[in-house]
Amino acid sequence: MGKKIFSGVQPTGNLHLGNYLGAIKNFVDLSNENDTECIFCVVDLHAITVNQDPKEFRNNIRETVATFIASGIDPKKNIIFNQSQVSAHSEAAWILGCIARMGWLNRMTQFKEKAGKDKEKASIGLYSYPVLMAADILLYDATHVPVGDDQKQHLELCRDIAQKFNNDFKVENFFVTPEPLIQKEFSRIMSLKDGTKKMSKSEISDLSRINLSDTQDQIINKIKKAKTDPLPMPINVKDLDKRPEAKNLLGIYSSLKKINLEKSVKEFSGKNFSEFKENLAQVLVDKIFPLSLEIKKLLDDKVYLDQILVEGAQKANDKASKKIKEIHKIIGF
Ligand code: AMP
Ligand code: TRP
Repeated sequence: MGKKIFSGVQPTGNLHLGNYLGAIKNFVDLSNENDTECIFCVVDLHAITVNQDPKEFRNNIRETVATFIASGIDPKKNIIFNQSQVSAHSEAAWILGCIARMGWLNRMTQFKEKAGKDKEKASIGLYSYPVLMAADILLYDATHVPVGDDQKQHLELCRDIAQKFNNDFKVENFFVTPEPLIQKEFSRIMSLKDGTKKMSKSEISDLSRINLSDTQDQIINKIKKAKTDPLPMPINVKDLDKRPEAKNLLGIYSSLKKINLEKSVKEFSGKNFSEFKENLAQVLVDKIFPLSLEIKKLLDDKVYLDQILVEGAQKANDKASKKIKEIHKIIGF
């Protein structure tokens, strides 16, 4: 039996290089494998765990679909849909919320980070976010879930929920326990302003990230301004452990060029940062700017994008509604 892939991206606008290198690029490679079924979900229910502007929201959903397609995911061969259009996700999230334990959720670091100091003011949705994520995955019997490194803990929770449900109801193998697919190298792209913080759309400074919608000039400017340290470029990979900014920039370069870190370090060994930055900016312009143009072109055809979501939701609904019926039977509804 082939692999069943499921993954999701939040439509919160401003998709960036971290999303692309950490997740979407991997989706594209998987979608080109033989004997692999792929489902990619625009997780709008997850997005509303924090405030969203309704006017921008719909366009952000379309932009996420456009990014999938521009990156190379074929909507004819793969399912692309948005979560809110398949009601089984909300329903399964409730049911699985009765399986998951408070103690398990209390350990989730993403909640702690996102809720910040005033946890009392965070939404309940933000807290139970990983349960909805488990519902997404388990409804489709996904065997593999490609994500960035930051989602590893949520996947472990998903596996625990699946196993507890199977045990509690004595339905061995009913829910498939999915394997995370996290890239070995460059799985966490860091901020251009601080090599110890991950690149994120919620970071206030736009200079901290390369957005997939950036122009050539913006890309060049952001790389010029990216934080570095006063030393020349490192001579060997080991030096990078204490130099997070250099490590991140060389990681981005390596990932885009599809070469390993050793090779990139060797290429620029002992040189000035400015020379490396010129090369890095060029690679980014070559690889990311065409993507940005394609996304813009696709966004001009809203009817086409909406049609993909309608068709995707129908296909996803066929699968998810079957699984939810089986869940009802097992529970005794
Ligand atoms: P999100 O936009 O938070 O829904 O994330 C979508 C995907 O991008 C998830 O698989 C994340 O793990 C991945 N991702 C987000 N930020 C980064 C980053 N800075 N580095 C690597 N992967 C990331
Ligand atoms: N929580 C993921 C993120 O923020 C998005 C997501 C939601 C997801 N449901 C999923 C990823 C299911 C993989 C599988 O990045």
